[in-house]
Amino acid sequence: MADLRVEPLMSQPSWRLFEAAAEVETPALVYDLPGIAATVRRMQQDISTVEGARLNIALKACHTPEILAYLARMDVGADVASVGELDLAEEAGFQEISATGPAFSPSHFARFARSGIVVDLDSRGQIDLYGQHFPGTDVGLRVRVPLPARLESDATFGGNSRFGVTITDPELHAVLERHRLRVTRIHLHTGQMTPESLLYKVTYTLIIAAQFPDVHTIDLGGGFFHLYAHRGRAITAFRRMRELVDEWQEQHGRQISFRFEPGGAVLAVYGYLFTEVRSVEEHHPHYGTRVVTVDSSAWNLAPWHRPEVLSADPAADSAQREPGLIAGNTLYENDFFGTDIKGRVQRFDFPKCQVGDRLVITASGAYTMTNSRRFNRIPPPAEYGFDGVALTRLTTAAFA
Ligand SMILES: Cc1ncc(COP(=O)(O)O)c(C=O)c1O
Repeated sequence: MADLRVEPLMSQPSWRLFEAAAEVETPALVYDLPGIAATVRRMQQDISTVEGARLNIALKACHTPEILAYLARMDVGADVASVGELDLAEEAGFQEISATGPAFSPSHFARFARSGIVVDLDSRGQIDLYGQHFPGTDVGLRVRVPLPARLESDATFGGNSRFGVTITDPELHAVLERHRLRVTRIHLHTGQMTPESLLYKVTYTLIIAAQFPDVHTIDLGGGFFHLYAHRGRAITAFRRMRELVDEWQEQHGRQISFRFEPGGAVLAVYGYLFTEVRSVEEHHPHYGTRVVTVDSSAWNLAPWHRPEVLSADPAADSAQREPGLIAGNTLYENDFFGTDIKGRVQRFDFPKCQVGDRLVITASGAYTMTNSRRFNRIPPPAEYGFDGVALTRLTTAAFA
């Protein structure tokens, strides 16, 4: 039975964050550090139900050096998708780093090897390329997991994933043998995970691990928003996972260690994008609703997510909400906040506002700066860390 009384995964921000943010220029992206720490601790506590299991952060969600260093100090590991992310992860001080990506070159493989990282290879082509340059060494496999229909949703990538090898492919085993590669790691990410799909993936990967005697680590990826829709159910799933792993270890006489690597569920809710209203068109003749244009850009910063939009002044009347569209400050026609991954524009409710008012675009703490582009040569927002009392200006990661 799921425990219904557990503390929720996420924490509310202090009112002080809004007060402190009122003092800085917009656009400003403010990270709530105590909130991040509280969620990390809760996830670490839940995951530790499974002996030896650990939490990593998917670096693709955040490249801000001080945030990464903060996570590294909490004994979180990192998963990287490029050598650029590897540089950031090492500078931040992460002790454990894993790597997977679809298109590494021999020089990338050499760079990972210099840092002692066993790369989780994504395809037969990548295995062959790697094997030609580094025969007889250890590798990980990113596997594609064909989830059963009952576990699929719009937010999952099972059999339809672009990434990963098919474990039953005979050619896969032939190319591993040809280059005398030793498989020591299994890695997967299937989009959003649920308690049910977690257990399915544990079972699936333990069957794979039984066939590869050198596998010591299984990385189950991220996607914790759906896993933690109810924390009590997530904890129940981790308990069941522990039973499955214990049984497997006893049967096979060896240890397997698990990793999780969420990005969004650790950071997204803890990023608050403060932005100022620059124009209001009360009734757009085509959209049939008000269009509020602000001093930051969805196209440049938030191409994916549907935020909740609040007034930056917590004392403002929160009942004064009405439908509308929030447009960004670029000259791209479709620059609207809340556009979904298919580019569909959707109106939503947010506070009544006029030019000069400040709004907060919530859920901006992950995949915002890492997705950012410079269309119209508009600079990204300044980033700040809120430590519970005051804001500190953070560094925005640049290309070397
Ligand atoms: C390999 C891998 N791991 C982890 C993640 C993190 O996913 P999320 O931010 O949904 O937790 C991703 C996201 O694309 C990924 O590709």
